[in-house]
Amino acid sequence: MSKEDKIIPWWTPKIGEREKELLKTVLDNNFPNEGQFVDLFEKKISGLLGCKHAIAVTSGTAAIFLALKSLGIGSGDEVVIPDITFIATANAAEMAGAKPVLVDIDPKNMNISVESFEKSITDKTKAVIPVHVSGRASDMENIMRIAEDNGIKVVEDAAEAFMSIHKGKYLGTFGQIGCLSFSPNKTITTGQGGIILTDDDDLFMRLKELKNQGRRERGTGGDDTHFAVGYNFKMTDLQGALGVGQLEYLNERIKRMKKNHKIYAEELKNSGKMSLFEFDIEGGETPQWTDAYSGERDGLDKYLASRNIHCRRFWLPIHRQAPYKLKDDMFPNSTKMSYKSIWLPSAFTLADSDIIKVCENIKQFFNGG
Ligand SMILES: Cc1ncc(COP(=O)(O)O)c(C=O)c1O
Repeated sequence: MSKEDKIIPWWTPKIGEREKELLKTVLDNNFPNEGQFVDLFEKKISGLLGCKHAIAVTSGTAAIFLALKSLGIGSGDEVVIPDITFIATANAAEMAGAKPVLVDIDPKNMNISVESFEKSITDKTKAVIPVHVSGRASDMENIMRIAEDNGIKVVEDAAEAFMSIHKGKYLGTFGQIGCLSFSPNKTITTGQGGIILTDDDDLFMRLKELKNQGRRERGTGGDDTHFAVGYNFKMTDLQGALGVGQLEYLNERIKRMKKNHKIYAEELKNSGKMSLFEFDIEGGETPQWTDAYSGERDGLDKYLASRNIHCRRFWLPIHRQAPYKLKDDMFPNSTKMSYKSIWLPSAFTLADSDIIKVCENIKQFFNGG
């Protein structure tokens, strides 16, 4: 492949030498179960985010499911969810036995519409899950206020918002519980994995029981005491070691992702036919991925793909997916926005020149190709 043919990926994870060393330690320890590396990973994450407890689990989906269970949410309860999110958010509520109640989004930021959330509240509403799409903060002040006024718990889906700051506080630490994902398209990855964040000691104990067959301490598998019904959502030390190693590159990756976005914003500011969703980078938001809206999205995506520039089209609205089908007219914003929104190449492995090349190609497309 010639240099011109180089693929500019939408995203790519990167595993370095440090993780390989740590993984070798786990293998040499002959302890591929939940152990010292998971403990260390949890400690590092809670320390970074200034949160009292971090509980490592098998995925971001598991984190949301366990969060709802720990709050006692299940059959007969309603959980409010934005119509634009990865389907995992709705599936996690469904898995807990609750009814996901979809609401429309705010077209300015692709996050939950506070007005729609407020209108959706019934006496069955027990939780709301604001999703910080692409790392951009939902309107946490108003969501927390409305939730408190109505006795509703807030579980933040911060799967895409690790290390993103809103009003001086990390996303995922506003609600009673926050959930992170470390799947391979996130800033750091453990292959699959998630973290549950909480400052509440009682919820922490419940979450430990729920992820570990009702045990409060790591068990022997023999004469352990099981305090409650629980499941197995434990992260292993193989994943923990990967996470600990990945954290060593965290700052440089965040710096790069912010720079990528700034170049896009500068280069495309007069594009006219495409608008980027804004980030408050000065205020501490970290763009997990740069997202944009264009009336010509599909043509643009195809054009860029033919030039080895890979993008990702936005999720279909949840209400259009078979398990959650509802009428379009209930969701005018998500229906309009989903099909015209796209994530541009956002990998932390990209250089300035790559982002500039993407921008040049976008401009060429809009100027007639
Ligand atoms: C918004 C959102 N919620 C939930 C999840 C689920 O996380 P996981 O894939 O780790 O289960 C993701 C995953 O990518 C996500 O983007």
